[in-house]
Amino acid sequence: MSRPTVLELLRLATGYLREKGVAQPRLDAEVLLGHALQMERIMLYVHHDRPLEPHEVDVYRTLIARRGRREPVAYLMGEKEFFGRSFQVDPRVLIPRPETEHLVEVALAFAIGEGPVRGWDVGTGSGILAVTLAAELPDSHWLATDLSADALAVARANAERHGVADRIRFLEGDLWAGTKPDGSWDLIVSNPPYLTDHEMAHLAPEIRYEPRQALAGGPDGLQVIRRLVQQAWAFLRPGGLLAFEIGAGQAEACRQLLAEAGQYEGIRVLPDHAGHPRVVCGLRTSP
Ligand SMILES: C[S@@+](CC[C@H](N)C(=O)[O-])C[C@H]1O[C@@H](n2cnc3c(N)ncnc32)[C@H](O)[C@@H]1O
Repeated sequence: MSRPTVLELLRLATGYLREKGVAQPRLDAEVLLGHALQMERIMLYVHHDRPLEPHEVDVYRTLIARRGRREPVAYLMGEKEFFGRSFQVDPRVLIPRPETEHLVEVALAFAIGEGPVRGWDVGTGSGILAVTLAAELPDSHWLATDLSADALAVARANAERHGVADRIRFLEGDLWAGTKPDGSWDLIVSNPPYLTDHEMAHLAPEIRYEPRQALAGGPDGLQVIRRLVQQAWAFLRPGGLLAFEIGAGQAEACRQLLAEAGQYEGIRVLPDHAGHPRVVCGLRTSP
């Protein structure tokens, strides 16, 4: 049998992925073929009539079969871009979402010009927040905590990859990992698990591959957020910022949580680029 060309394989793979319910079958077929051939996507069109070697077809077939089982593209590629940098990802960590870039922007708006800030990333996962902020703020130092030792291993690798490992300390444990509140931190950022039990019961097939612990926020989604808000102020210096990401329909409840804590001022809910309320923030009140 003659060897299939790039274009023939793309057509076959696209049809297969469409049958499996993949949302963007052509795009995924192209991205994965580019990955299999270690070629930019655009080069697939330059070489559209190139016949593939049998071993190349095998590699691609395996990738397409896994995508057909709805494994996320980012796990198949082993990386995902966030705020202009490429991060290592695998099923030990949540896949970085573009919405979370908004939290980076809020933190940068607070920290730029503040001098050498000390920041904390609670629930660091792949490390995107601590690593990005350490890279963007060259004088800053970070603590990154997570319940998952597996996630912290990925976060450490990403810190090495981006040359900021000497400015981030990683600690395993619940929220503050046993650290005593000392009222000294300039900035606390977090993208906590915030899906409700109902949302967890109706996840898209791709999201079922992601760690449950990174997603599940209890019956109303606010189980971790509630503790974060109640406890974070005692770690912050007066005027220090708490900023965290929220899910759909959580803005008012979160604004109220900050108000009820009685230790925050300048409480705000900020929309992401799609106009959805996405980041809640407040400053620790000054005495
Ligand atoms: C939504 S993921 C966010 C990961 C990463 N910061 C990001 O934005 O892509 C939440 C992370 O918080 C961690 N986590 C969940 N509950 C936690 C807790 N009580 N204390 C510390 N980390 C927690 C999970 O293991 C997961 O890595």
